[in-house]
Parts: sequence; C-alpha cells; structure tokens
Amino acid sequence: MCGIVGYIGVKPIKEILIEGLRELEYRGYDSAGIAVLQNGNFSLFKAVGKLVNLEEKAKNFESDGFSVGIGHTRWATHGKPTELNAHPHVGHNSYVVHNGIIENYQELKGMLTEEGVRFLSQTDTEVIVHLFEYRLRTEPSALEAFTKTLDQLEGAYATLLVNASLNDTIFFAKQGSPMIIGRNSEGEIFFASSDAALIGKCQEVLYLEDGHYGCATGSEIKLFNAHHHEVPLHFTPLNENKLSAQKEGYRFFMEKEIYEQSQVLIDTLMGRLRDESIYFEELDAALFDGIREIKLCACGTSYHAAMVAGYLLERHAKIRTSIEIASEFRYREPFLTPDPLFIVISQSGETADTLESLKMAKAFGLKTMVICNVDNSSMVRLADASLLTRAGIEKGVASTKAFATQVSVLWMLSLFLAGERKTLDTAEIKRQIQLLRLLPTTTKVDNDIHEQLRRLSKRYLHGHGFFFIGRDVFYPLALEGALKLKEITYLHAEGYPSGEMKHGPIALADPELFTIALLPQHKLYDKTKSNIEELSARDSTICSISPLEFDKADDHIRTQHADDYMLEFFEMMVVLQLLSMEIAVRLGNDVDMPRNLAKSVTVE
Ligand code: AGP
Repeated sequence: MCGIVGYIGVKPIKEILIEGLRELEYRGYDSAGIAVLQNGNFSLFKAVGKLVNLEEKAKNFESDGFSVGIGHTRWATHGKPTELNAHPHVGHNSYVVHNGIIENYQELKGMLTEEGVRFLSQTDTEVIVHLFEYRLRTEPSALEAFTKTLDQLEGAYATLLVNASLNDTIFFAKQGSPMIIGRNSEGEIFFASSDAALIGKCQEVLYLEDGHYGCATGSEIKLFNAHHHEVPLHFTPLNENKLSAQKEGYRFFMEKEIYEQSQVLIDTLMGRLRDESIYFEELDAALFDGIREIKLCACGTSYHAAMVAGYLLERHAKIRTSIEIASEFRYREPFLTPDPLFIVISQSGETADTLESLKMAKAFGLKTMVICNVDNSSMVRLADASLLTRAGIEKGVASTKAFATQVSVLWMLSLFLAGERKTLDTAEIKRQIQLLRLLPTTTKVDNDIHEQLRRLSKRYLHGHGFFFIGRDVFYPLALEGALKLKEITYLHAEGYPSGEMKHGPIALADPELFTIALLPQHKLYDKTKSNIEELSARDSTICSISPLEFDKADDHIRTQHADDYMLEFFEMMVVLQLLSMEIAVRLGNDVDMPRNLAKSVTVE
C-alpha cells in the first residue's frame, strides 16, 4: 500500500513532492524517494525511514522553473527496506515508481538479464524501467515503448515513469492499484495514489480505471484504455475533506480496512499460487528439513489465526501442531526440544510477549519463522525466516485485514508443506489453490448484508452477554468475533466451541443471552445445528450466520453458498467484523481507537 505522487509545473517541485508524500504517510511506509527531471537532467534522492531523512538528503536541491518529478513511499513486499530497494528505480535515463506487485517479474528479470541488463535492487518494480528502456530501443516512440512494457506486465500496478529524452512528460498507468490525476486553474498536473495528497492543490481529479494508461505534459494529457483506444478525460470536483480522504470515504479506518480485505488478499496471494503448488519466493525449503512438529505462538487476533492454522496444518500436512498463547508460553517453563519449527504470528512484529517467546525458542535452538505484516520489524529481523502478509498499514486497533491475510498465508503454508511432504495429492492441492484464488471475491463486502447488519445491530446493544459459537476452524473464528465485539463495543462476549455449551455455559441461556452461531454448510453442519437448537429450546436469542435457512434463529444472516468451508470461513469473518463495527457505531464508541487499547502491545 505504497504512496505515489507526481508533478508537472513551474513551482518548487521538491516541496510539492515531499509534502504530497507526507499526506500519504497514513498509508504506512519504511523508505521514500523522489526524482526530478529539469532541462534533461535528473536529480534523485532516496532514504530509509521517515520523510525527514529524505528531506535531509535533498536539502541542498532546489528546482528553478518548469520541471517534472515523481515520488514514492514504500511498504516493503519484495526486498528489505533499504535505500537500494527504495523507489524511484533507475534505468540509464529513466526513473519509475510503482505500487502493487508484478507477478511475472522473475521471468522478465531473467529475460532482461540475459540481454545484459544489470539489476541493482531486489524489487519487482525495477523490471518496469529496464523493460521500458529495452522496448525503447526498437519502438518508434516512448509512448509505444511504454505501451509495450505494460502489455508484458502481469499483476497489479500503479506506476509513473519519466525519461530524460522527454523532459516535460510523465507516463502513467493503473492496473489494480489506485492512481489519480489532478489539475488546477494554473495548468499544473498532479498524480497521487490517494486524493489526500491532492487536497488544497487541485480543483479537479480524474480517477484512473484498471487498464488506463497514457502520458501527461504541462499542456496535454493523453489517456488510453486497455484496448489502446484514446478515451476522453472526465475530471470531477475534488472532495476537500482530508480525513475523509485518508479514510478514502469510509467512516473509520476499520471500515476501510474491512472493505480493503478483498484487495489486500490479491497482494497477499500474488506470486504465491501456481496451478498445482504453492510458491514462497522468500522461503528456503531446507528450513523444514528434519521438522516433525510445528509450534505456533501469538497473542490476540494473531493467536486466533494460529488456532486456525493448527487445524489446517494437521489436516493437510499431517504434521503435529501445537498452539501457544505467548504470554503463557513465556512463563510456563516449556519442555522444548530443537525439532519443532517455531512460528510466531504478529501483525506488528513488535508485541512484547510474542517477541520474547521467539527469543526463548531461538535460545533453545529451534528453527524459527515469523508471519508478519511489517518488514524490518523486530520479529522479522530476529526470525530465521519470514512470510509477509502484505496487508499494508492497519490503522484500526481492532485487527481485520491482518487476520484475513494471516489466515490466507497459513492456509498456503499448510498446502506448501502438504506438497513437500506428499500428504495431499496434487488434485486436492490444485482444488484448494482454486479456492484461494476465490478469496478476493469471497471477502468483497456484500452491501445488502452490510445494510442488514446495520439495521440488526440495534437489537444487540444490551443483554447480559454474547456467545459466539462454532466448531472446527469456526471455533477460533468465534473467538475472533467475540474479541472484535469486546474490543470496540465494550459488551461482554465469549467465543466457545459449539459442542461445549452443554458442559456448563448453557445454564446462562435465556432471552437476554445473545448467541451468534456460525453454521457452515460444509463443516459439521448437523452437529452445530443441534447445539444451536439446544440453546434455542432454552429461549436464548439466536443470530445464525449460514448459507442455509435456520428456522430456530431469531435473526439470520444468509451467506453465499460456497464450495468449501474455508470460503464460508472468510465470508463469515467479514460478517462478524461488520456486526461488531455497526454495534459499536450505535453505542457511539471510538471504532478506530477503543478505550484502554493500543495498536501494538510492546510492553508486558
Ligand atoms: C486484535 O484486534 C487486537 N488489536 C490485538 O489482540 C492484537 O491482535 C494483539 O495485540 C497481537 O498484536 P500483533 O498481531 O501485532 O502481535
């Protein structure tokens, strides 16, 4: 979820680019850079860390009159956060910035390397500038070279490119990641990945659509569609509300992040799904040599993701798996031998209990891995291996897209190990890879269901408590749903295995006890249904979430009929997130920053 800015005009460009990047800081980043082209000469500045470091690098530079320039803040997905990996990336006399993932970059990099191109960075982005210059050798114009370059890219990209031979031009393209063009009455042209960077600078914006590309100069913008037909420019007035812009029109960052799950899962899966196998570019399969057990360790929502993984790893990879709450693991004097692979899961990579558990495992000589959303975090730097979830910055304290991407990575890991250990046949792995490809669709918010949950939430504002119940992977999902509710509504809730209700909790059943029942069609439906009927018979108020009608429910959220319980899992996850959010809204709570909570618990 990087930040991109561009400018064409006569004002001091360094300040405009850096100020634009500062407006995009809310998107999270670990490095930044700008490139300015004036009178055929490039000036390039890049820095790791915060924008102040970039400003320091560029402090003695000032443009004088007309210039074009591009800027970028990077959230690492391929390659560590270093100055070399920071954008803009450089060819002989071209510079490029990019947001997204080029899925076929390895293949393109190999072809270009054979043609004598020397790559400097570990990023996928760098192939864009080298491919453009490779095409420039044979194409009759820079625009046609840019067009041919785009035709060879697979994956998601929002990109800006400048070339010294055209020192009044910025080439742009949009496919899967956002890109906006802005203009004002002074004839200046701006580019940005979010309109937050355009407020106060432009009066009109043009939101590029997938497949759109073209070139802009100080006097003209040429826009083409995916069929290479020139299309008219439809500019619209710019919304001037900056906070709304940062939330991209949503009411809360949490709401934005729930709606974003569909898109970030595309990034999480990108480059990792082959037809019949899972591919983790960043993993060396030797990590798993001699491993006969896996220990997963985490806190909070990440612990719930670990519990889901426990079912999938044993079911698919036939490997013994145990799950630890980090704050317990640290002090229970665990009996550890070096043979398990110790995997910690953490959105932030900084949670104190999880980090200390990782250190303990390393001290016992275990191989370690972290599944994390923040490259260069303490856990990523400490573990032997890491798998990034690529969810982009998560600002809502109540975790949503981090959980979705953690579970998808862990599902992929279970299939990867099943392939390595030959515990699933190729046909089954292929079937589940097809299911993974459906996740972006499955997690797309159904507006009718969101509206139903908004209306329904008024009935669940009191009561003496909630039970969220489910079986199998829907038990950790029930725990996660209960945690979401507690975190942002401050109402009491418990996640419970459906089959356990009759071992005591059912004594609580009465009309004021709200039961949110996860009733998947494809996993233990009849067993779960009878557990819910036991509660309903004792007059508990039931809200069932299921693709199948359930006549004993007081409320019913009908989810889509899916081919597999894991797709039902992800759809029900979105329902639980929205339900908690809408109840919190009615209670007037601060959805993004609930009382008493911090986004990352870096103390015990
Ligand atoms: C989840 O909504 C909470 N914000 C919290 O439980 C969180 O998952 C937990 O603190 C772990 O954080 P981490 O994933 O950054 O390690």
